Amino acid sequence: MGNCLGSSDQFVTRFSTSSAASTAKASSSTATTGKFSSFSSSSFEQSSGSSVRSIEDLSFPDGRILDEPNLQIFSLAELKIATKNFKPVAFLGEGGFGKVYRGWFEDRTLNSSKNAVGMVVAVKKLNSDSMQGLEQWQSEVNFLGRLSHPNLVKLLGYCMEDNELLLVYEFMPKGSLENHLFRRGTAFEPLSWNLRLKIAIGAAQGLAFLHSSEKQIIYRDFKASNVLLDANYTAKLSDFGLAKNGPSASNSHITTRIIGTHGYTAPEYVATGHLYVKSDVYGFGVVLLEMLSGQRALDLNRPKGQHNLVDWAKPFLLDKRKVLRLMDPRLEGQYPSEGALQAAQLTLRCIARKPKNRPSMNEVVQILEEIEAKNRRSREAKVALNQHKVRSHGKAPMNP
Ligand SMILES: Nc1ncnc2c1ncn2[C@@H]1O[C@H](COP(=O)(O)OP(=O)(O)OP(=O)(O)O)[C@@H](O)[C@H]1O
Ligand SMILES: [Mg+2]
Repeated sequence: MGNCLGSSDQFVTRFSTSSAASTAKASSSTATTGKFSSFSSSSFEQSSGSSVRSIEDLSFPDGRILDEPNLQIFSLAELKIATKNFKPVAFLGEGGFGKVYRGWFEDRTLNSSKNAVGMVVAVKKLNSDSMQGLEQWQSEVNFLGRLSHPNLVKLLGYCMEDNELLLVYEFMPKGSLENHLFRRGTAFEPLSWNLRLKIAIGAAQGLAFLHSSEKQIIYRDFKASNVLLDANYTAKLSDFGLAKNGPSASNSHITTRIIGTHGYTAPEYVATGHLYVKSDVYGFGVVLLEMLSGQRALDLNRPKGQHNLVDWAKPFLLDKRKVLRLMDPRLEGQYPSEGALQAAQLTLRCIARKPKNRPSMNEVVQILEEIEAKNRRSREAKVALNQHKVRSHGKAPMNP
């Protein structure tokens, strides 16, 4: 869950420790509106109309931005049936804006299923008392509803009824990266080095897609809880409530009220409200650091001087001899030191103080893929060597 921040003059900064409960997220009533934000709330006040619905399987491996949100409209009654009336048994998790429930639909026809069989979805029910929730909800529909990419969670539809705002997503069976890195228990086995690389590459590809779209999209809320994992640990970004269109060609940044999550937000943005595409790269660097170290971006339970992961870890990243001391003990040393050093160097570049010194997300993807390829080659070489040893041992003359 997030530790969200707003500019101090307008919002009470909400802090939480690593284990704290959900915190509310602030959202601006004066936020600049981008191209996607022209979709007004009245556009949503359509009835669910046609009863024949199905999920179109539009998959665009390289991603696609649609002209209009391609979403289903659900009635509250349908979502109540699908989630067993939002009962605790269907509860999946809670964030700053509301609770998330598991829901069931009869296969791809999207008729609610009472019997917890059929297609599983995730239903986010926004806290009904929050104006901020409305803005977040609209932004989610405007951005995510139009985006299609293998590394972005699919938004299937929404409901706006009786002062209730709900969003229906594809279900991500492995939950959030945050849970895997920091929660303990049998449901959260430590992630191996290979899986960490796979997840980092998937998430980086999601951001790279947003950044390289014609009208760049700044995600603004990159953090481990917003990286969700499918059954194969493919990473998908969720939560576009804070997303913004990037600057026009003549500008390097947009200026906006400061909002985001403590520990992940780029220093230039916190200091000036200037938001760059590269501000997302900083957030990515912080998550990479969390994945390497197994430590949260911000944790008030750590000893004094170690609360902020970036401040604490930077000296380790700068010194090659110290990097390995930073690595997550849950990896049990099962990673190639060369790959770890390269990932640490990349992290350092991503969290550079000046946005222009950070790599683009395309470059990040490329470097991570190189680390992964080397990793794979050395694994294959080891397997080949072992096979060779077994074969030669098999042929070797028996000891007298
Ligand atoms: N599509 C989904 N499939 C499966 N589980 C989900 C899905 N979306 C959310 N969840 C679960 O619900 C939890 C809460 O998600 P939510 O996005 O509301 O909050 P958050 O990301 O933890 O915090 P924040 O509000 O600061 O973004 C997630 O951590 C995850 O475990
Ligand atoms: Mg989230």
